Amino acid sequence: MKNIVVLVSGSGTNLQRIIDTIESGEIQNAKISLVVADRECYGLERAKKHHIENILIPRGKNFSSELANVIPKNTDLIVLAGFLSILKSEFCENWSGKIINIHPALLPKFGGKGMWGHHVHHAVIEAGEKESGATVHFVTPGIDEGEAILQKSFEVTAEDTPETIAEKVHHIEYEIFPKAINKVLGN
Ligand code: GRF
Repeated sequence: MKNIVVLVSGSGTNLQRIIDTIESGEIQNAKISLVVADRECYGLERAKKHHIENILIPRGKNFSSELANVIPKNTDLIVLAGFLSILKSEFCENWSGKIINIHPALLPKFGGKGMWGHHVHHAVIEAGEKESGATVHFVTPGIDEGEAILQKSFEVTAEDTPETIAEKVHHIEYEIFPKAINKVLGN
């Protein structure tokens, strides 16, 4: 049984998808041993509802070292599921190959500092992109620069707004995240 730690900052619908796909068997041979939030958020409530061990470590300069202290030694994979703090380089290097993130665009486009949530979707529209999508990638010290594991696109139309793009992105994320987790776990 592989042990997954999930990091959240927001509503946690991707966390919910991971919980559900572990339950349904789509993600095999794995359990979430811990959910860590860097702020009060609904993602944390989801963990509580499902009786998953959870902890709130307030965001700030000591976050990465405090996180390092609570991550169980037997952790096989750390999953950033809508997580907004930037992790220290040392932390990313220590967990190299075992830490992944989901990003709401087609990396390497629309990644890097400040490119999160609605900022990404606004930028996609501003740039007149004909497509956007989501990417699951390894986390390295460079923000959104790690190798892609899975990526899927959708068409952006003239009618799209940041809100409709966000919705389309979420659907793609729910599809590729469990697949990417299986891939990294060697399932
Ligand atoms: C997702 O779109 C993810 O790509 C981004 O933040 C969003 C989190 O959504 N990093 P949720 O909290 O999983 O609903």
